Parts: sequence; structure tokens; C-alpha cells
Amino acid sequence: MSRSRVGRPSTSEWPTTPPGDPAGAAGETGPRIAVLGTGYLGATHAVCMAELGFTVIGYDVDTAKVARLSVGEVPFFEPGLEELLRKNLESGRLSFTAEIGDVATWADVHFICVGTPQRPSDGGADLTYVDAVVDALIDTGLAPGALVVGKSTVPTGTAAALAARIHAAAPDAELAWNPEFLREGFAVNDTLRPDRLVFGVMPDGAAEARLRAVYAQTIEAGTPVVVTDYATAELVKVAANAFLATKISFINAMAEICDVAGADVLELATSIGYDARIGSRFLRPGIGFGGGCLPKDIRAFQARATELGAADSLAFLAEVDAVNLRARGRAVTLTRSALGGTVDGRRLGVLGAAFKPNSDDIRDSPALDIAAALAADGALVTVYDPAAVPNARPRYPSLNYASSVREAVTGADAVLVLTEWGEFRELDPAALLSYVAGAVMVDGRHALDAARWRAAGWTYHSLGRPAAAPTEADAR
Ligand code: UGA
Repeated sequence: MSRSRVGRPSTSEWPTTPPGDPAGAAGETGPRIAVLGTGYLGATHAVCMAELGFTVIGYDVDTAKVARLSVGEVPFFEPGLEELLRKNLESGRLSFTAEIGDVATWADVHFICVGTPQRPSDGGADLTYVDAVVDALIDTGLAPGALVVGKSTVPTGTAAALAARIHAAAPDAELAWNPEFLREGFAVNDTLRPDRLVFGVMPDGAAEARLRAVYAQTIEAGTPVVVTDYATAELVKVAANAFLATKISFINAMAEICDVAGADVLELATSIGYDARIGSRFLRPGIGFGGGCLPKDIRAFQARATELGAADSLAFLAEVDAVNLRARGRAVTLTRSALGGTVDGRRLGVLGAAFKPNSDDIRDSPALDIAAALAADGALVTVYDPAAVPNARPRYPSLNYASSVREAVTGADAVLVLTEWGEFRELDPAALLSYVAGAVMVDGRHALDAARWRAAGWTYHSLGRPAAAPTEADAR
């Protein structure tokens, strides 16, 4: 694929209103957009930029991913994304390529959306993919006045170093840092209707005006914009994830205290959440956080703080991590005790494999970690998840897999809910009784109504709540 720049306005002439031209590429008026990296972040961003009316090319080195996206297949589970992908492919505004030459000089704006995985050595962020894509752009050549926009989660200091490299090779190109806050499962909504936009820019450059042109519809809809420097923009992202992780570990630490005090963490969370200064969101106790972001980001943040000589400032994040991982161990212990002290030789039906519902992502999934630990203890574990089984099967071969709840729980001595899919919340406890060998429920996500399950004859167990409803005799 090759594209010419004939008839394009220069970048300084970008309109301050977005194109919004339903005719698509033929009538293109706004900046041309390249999205580099088509994982969760990049694929969603590319589709949503096309949805906003821009002409967009998504680039990835993974030719299989490019091939699937090009025919309208999203290579991961994300509600609503595939419909929008197909709609925008059909409009002619969106395409995908594995050739950097198709995007480097073509685009006015390059969004960097590649992954920054955890470095095995010290937990820091591996910037290999960010460096590779910036080098590829520089080597191939950027369009005059191009804007490169970083969205990947990076250690603070990365943008300044990249800006120096870009400037040395293409003096009139500019770099901005524009972190992304989308959640898997809500990626389309979070991209089209974000809580805020953060622009990390150099003072006196053209980047702010250009980003305002790109996001004009979002800004028009009332989204607040914070314009700041590179370092702050980079830190906003990791600080937000560190705060969310801390909030979850806080309530899971409270669950540990509730267990020893005989108190109820769910009632505690509800009660403190009514305080508007605390708020109830991200205060759901259970088996803790997983996924490709929170665990990795708090470790990379600590590694960067250590490099900057400020390790003490983030020492608490090591505790956040420890509380989080302890929740998984506590779920294993709870299951053992629910079955009289051992799971060896017992059948367990595990409901949930993804790190959270509405996702097929199993990266650092608490559910699979717990299922694998129980299997290592001798349990015969059968897992069902509405979306994540194809990803889990090759990674966790010690587990058995089922294609329905019924299949997973048939003959089970205990059932564990480890990802709170809507399908599991709606289960009928009385109906399930006829399939299981033992009516023992371990609810790792506080997803079920304990009273309802107990009333149907189940023994119900969860972290941070009394094993049975207190009786008057307990009070005496
Ligand atoms: C997270 C952030 O929420 C996004 O804002 C951010 O953009 C994204 O990381 C990223 O850095 O790219 P995500 O990884 O999709 O998004 O997942 P979350 O919804 O944050 O959930 C993370 C984990 O925390 C899940 O395992 C979930 O089950 C757990 N969680 C969440 C709890 O245990 N309790 C809660 O109250 C909330």
C-alpha cells in the first residue's frame, strides 16, 4: 500500500474542528492519523479515531494481528469494538498495515500505543517496543511538522529522551505525551468519552493546538483538559494506577482484619464508601487485582523511583503488591478449610479465568493463579469462563476446562467464583445443587448474595466475612 500527500493542508493549517465527514477518506480534511501498535489500547484508539471521522491507519509488526483487524476481526474480547471496527473499515477511513513505510511519511499524527511489559530483572518497564517504533519512524522519515504522541505507559523521563531523539532526526517534528486511561471491558466508551485528557507538551510548541484539534469533539462534549509538561503527564498515568491498586489493597487488608476480628468487610466497605471523600468505586474486596496494567505498573513505578533515588517515596507500593498477592494465597487457604483441611483428590469447579469480567485477558489473573495453586495441591480443577478459556488452556495445562457452568460444577466437591461475570451472579443456587457433589461455595469476588445461597442449602465462604451468619448464641 502506498499513499501520497498530494492536496493535503500543511499541519499548521489543521482545522480546529474535526473532519466528521461521513464520506470518509475521499473527503478527508483533518490530520491523517497513524496508530502504532494494535493491542487493546492501539486497536481501540485506531477504531475510535476513525469513528470520530479521521482517516486512520493502524500499524503493527504482528502480521497475523494486522490481517485479522483488516478483515474486521478484533483479536481479543472487547464489547462493542468489533461492530465499530467493521463500520469504520467499510467507511474507508480505517485500514491496517505491517509496513512502516505506509504510515511514516503519510501521517500527520502518530499515536504510539505499543506495549511496555515488565522487565524480568527488576520489575522496571521494558521500552524495547517504544524505542523500536520511534527508531522505525525516524529511519523511514516523518512528514514535515509531524506530531508524535506517546500513549504507552512509560517511566517518567522517557518522553524527554524520545523528544531529543526525534528532534535530532526531524527538527520540525514534535512529541507530546497523552496518557490513556481506558479500562478493558469499557475500552470504547472510555476512549470516546474519557474522564479527562492530559497533554504533556513542550512550552511554546504547536502540540497543544494540534492535540486540541484532534480531540475537538471530545473537548466540545465537556471533557476537561490538563496541559502540562512531559514528566507530569507520564506520572499522571502511573500515579492513577498506583492509587487504584492502593485502594483495592486497602480494602483487602481490611478483609484480613475482618477475618481475625469476626467482622464483615462487605458491610465495612459499603459503610466507608458512603463517605464521598472515600467513595465506593474500586473498594470491592476479594482476590485482588490482576491484568496487564495495575500489577506491572506499580512495580515499574517503584523501579523508576529507585533509579531516581526516591525509593522510600513508593516503598508502600511493595506492601500494596504484597497484600494483593496474599489475597490469592488466602483464597487457597479458605478453599482448603472449606473442604476440611485439604483439597488433595477433591474436585473443584472454578468459575472464572479472566482477570476481570467482560475480558478474555488472563495476564496475571488472580483466578488462574488460585486455580493452579489448588491443582498443585492435588485438587482436580475444572475451569469455565465465558471468554478466557482459549487463552487459559495453553498457559495452564494442569487445569481441566469446561464449556459451561454446568459442566464445570458437575460432581464438584466445591465451587469457586473467581471472576464476577454477570452469568455467575445470576446463577440459581437451588438449580445448581443437583449437579454438585458438595454444596460448598467459595466466592472469591463477593459476587453472590450470601444469604440466598445459604438459604438454598449451600455453605458459603468468602474472604473477610464470617463463615456463617452470626447467631444469638455467638453474641452471648
Ligand atoms: C486499569 C485502570 O483501571 C485503567 O484506568 C487504566 O487505563 C488501565 O489499567 C491501563 O493502565 O491501561 P484494567 O487493567 O482494564 O484498567 O482493569 P481494572 O478495571 O482497573 O481492574 C484491575 C483489577 O482490579 C481487576 O483484576 C479487578 O478485578 C480488580 N478490582 C477492581 C478489584 O479487585 N476490586 C475493585 O474494586 C476493582
